[in-house]
Amino acid sequence: MTRPYYIAGNWKMHKTRSEAAELARELTARLKDGKHKYLVAPGFTCLEAVGAVVKGSNILLGAQNMAAEEQGAHTGEVSVLQLKDLGVQAVILGHSERRHTYKEDDELINKKVLLALKHGLEVILCVGELLSEREAGQAEAVCRTQTKKGLEGVSAADLARVTIAYEPVWAIGTGKTATPEDADAIHACVRGVIAELYGKDAAAKIVIQYGGSVKAENAAQLMAKENIDGALVGGASLKADSFVPIAMFG
Ligand code: 13P
Repeated sequence: MTRPYYIAGNWKMHKTRSEAAELARELTARLKDGKHKYLVAPGFTCLEAVGAVVKGSNILLGAQNMAAEEQGAHTGEVSVLQLKDLGVQAVILGHSERRHTYKEDDELINKKVLLALKHGLEVILCVGELLSEREAGQAEAVCRTQTKKGLEGVSAADLARVTIAYEPVWAIGTGKTATPEDADAIHACVRGVIAELYGKDAAAKIVIQYGGSVKAENAAQLMAKENIDGALVGGASLKADSFVPIAMFG
């Protein structure tokens, strides 16, 4: 079974509107003949500007987070309805910075996953272990639990709109990358969880991205692995010159 490669840029808390629109313009031009699936996730304030640029291109517009409630008294939060109103097509949920800096737990993340899917968005659900968990031999167990709990209540039909991103926390922004072999082992484990929950066909179809210090120099080796179907790129997605070679690989 051949799965599409899916390469996404998570711009995190970087760029003003004009800077974001400029990067989006460069990417739409340079990726227009790209053969993979692409997404950019700018900060909330840049979504409208970037959305206007990528509209009609082969690049999806993604958000980096959203509230667990549809609307209401939630000061400082951004709702799924507001994201949809801006043309957002996908949302990254459960990113390790949300889990560890902002203390989001599996229950909250699951609520967000269900709400995003209910409103027709695609979801990138991030999972990944801390360095201490890896050193304690718990990497697989942590990723299993985060995958299972994140997907609780997701129907088989809705799973078609879910991508999993494996991002070992110790590899994010540190320059340390998991070896292709270590990453592939976790990807295989996550795929196994999907097989247990949804069956073999669903497991064969689900796209699992790797994230954590992905650069042009290591992207091809990672994505050559059987279970690694793309990349969720942070730092290297902030410039077209570093993102395009990753996105155009192969
Ligand atoms: P870096 O590519 O900067 O390590 O970030 C990875 C990441 O967190 C993407 O979501």
